[in-house]
Amino acid sequence: MRRHGRRMKALLGGCLALLMVGCGLAPQVAVRLHALASVKTQAVNGRSTPFMWGVSTAGYQYEGQENKSQWAQWDAALKTEERRGNADDGYALYAEDMDLAKGMGCNAYRTSIEWARIEPEEGQFDQAAIEHYRSVLTAMRARGLTPVVTLMHFAYPAWLDRYGGWQSAKAVDAYAQYVDRVTREFGGLIDWYLTFNEPGVFISSGWLLGNYPPGHQHDLIGASLVLKNLLAAHVKAYGIIHRNDPVAYVSSNQACADFTFGSDAVKADGMPAASSDPTSSDAFLEGVLAKRHGRSAQGLAMPFLDYIAIDYYTRLNLSLPLNLPPDWGWPVYPQGFYDELVKYHQRTGLPVLVAENGMATMDGDPRADGWTREAYIAAHVEQMQRAIQDGVPVLGYMHWSITDNYEWGSYHPRFGLFSVDCRHNDQRRVPTPAVDVYRSIIASGGVTREVASRVTYPAGYEPLVHP
Ligand code: BGC
Repeated sequence: MRRHGRRMKALLGGCLALLMVGCGLAPQVAVRLHALASVKTQAVNGRSTPFMWGVSTAGYQYEGQENKSQWAQWDAALKTEERRGNADDGYALYAEDMDLAKGMGCNAYRTSIEWARIEPEEGQFDQAAIEHYRSVLTAMRARGLTPVVTLMHFAYPAWLDRYGGWQSAKAVDAYAQYVDRVTREFGGLIDWYLTFNEPGVFISSGWLLGNYPPGHQHDLIGASLVLKNLLAAHVKAYGIIHRNDPVAYVSSNQACADFTFGSDAVKADGMPAASSDPTSSDAFLEGVLAKRHGRSAQGLAMPFLDYIAIDYYTRLNLSLPLNLPPDWGWPVYPQGFYDELVKYHQRTGLPVLVAENGMATMDGDPRADGWTREAYIAAHVEQMQRAIQDGVPVLGYMHWSITDNYEWGSYHPRFGLFSVDCRHNDQRRVPTPAVDVYRSIIASGGVTREVASRVTYPAGYEPLVHP
């Protein structure tokens, strides 16, 4: 139950103040789409980069056994619905999953480096963990998978909590030291960095809802401190990463959703009001954008974002009383993905990476609304193609997730292209029908008539591409 409102509330903060009627976008009618094959590269920072087709995962949810993070301690204190246990055993089985990604035709792979493994005790860096991640990154490179690396995906070393965790400015310096070490170690292996995964969700879940550690509810003072420190840490990390690895691209991925109030015709846009609410999904991005014309001590431009990354899953209706859907009931609304791609590009002027996009089922059961994972992927990739056709420079698409994994407190929501029965520690990777569809999308450079012929959409859904 506690999990149900997570994303909705996480995204909610700044948007109640604003109503935007319509958004001037074309109605969802069948249009001719250019396959992405014609958009094989995009430019970022003046350099050309291949379009990235990938999958996305995160250490804490995937790797299993680790007891040094604040999340592991939260779990050990029985604050979650289910224990995490060994998750996907990804710490051991990562190469197998990279083979699966490669087998789908992916050329990119997003995962996180876990700070709590790299620095399990304050100031003590674990060389074995460093070598482990070197092997992970080398294994990606060997398979032609471009690493996209999140430096903090919600979990951090529990020792930081002795100082007040992210409420303390100590976190800024500690994170900077960790980033300095990681980028000195792995600079040659990583080009794409994400400093923080969904800062808005991190803050709202930990300091508004209390369903993530540290479990504070309605703590706006705490949330403001965390926001301030995350922003300072991001700015510092940006400088450190570019100093250690001048060719890197740095960003932070933002959770977004398509919001409505009541009727579908009334859209809400949470962006401008965000800065007044530290728990809103956009407060972090607002903060970074406000600093973007800074300069380094050497006078170099410091935009603090080289690209913008978004995570899009759903449409949320904010009518009161709020009726919060569980993850496996998040409404599927592909058109909103187009809208968000356009919006984030227009707002930042930057190329956009889709760091996450995916759909949950409840324990792998068919969804009541008839959406399957393969239909979800096809419907969203179509909208991405439409955005590209309309001029949004999209850098890549990372599907969440390669495997079912630990969904921050429970194994019920399943997002995997490959099913894994983590709950019973059965580590077999079982392909879902979405695997073949994703493979053919990648091979065709997008949804084509041939791809569309393999997909059954829920009754009443009108796709952009017909067989
Ligand atoms: C997070 C993932 C999570 C996914 C599905 C995002 O909030 O980055 O960790 O599993 O969405 O809820």
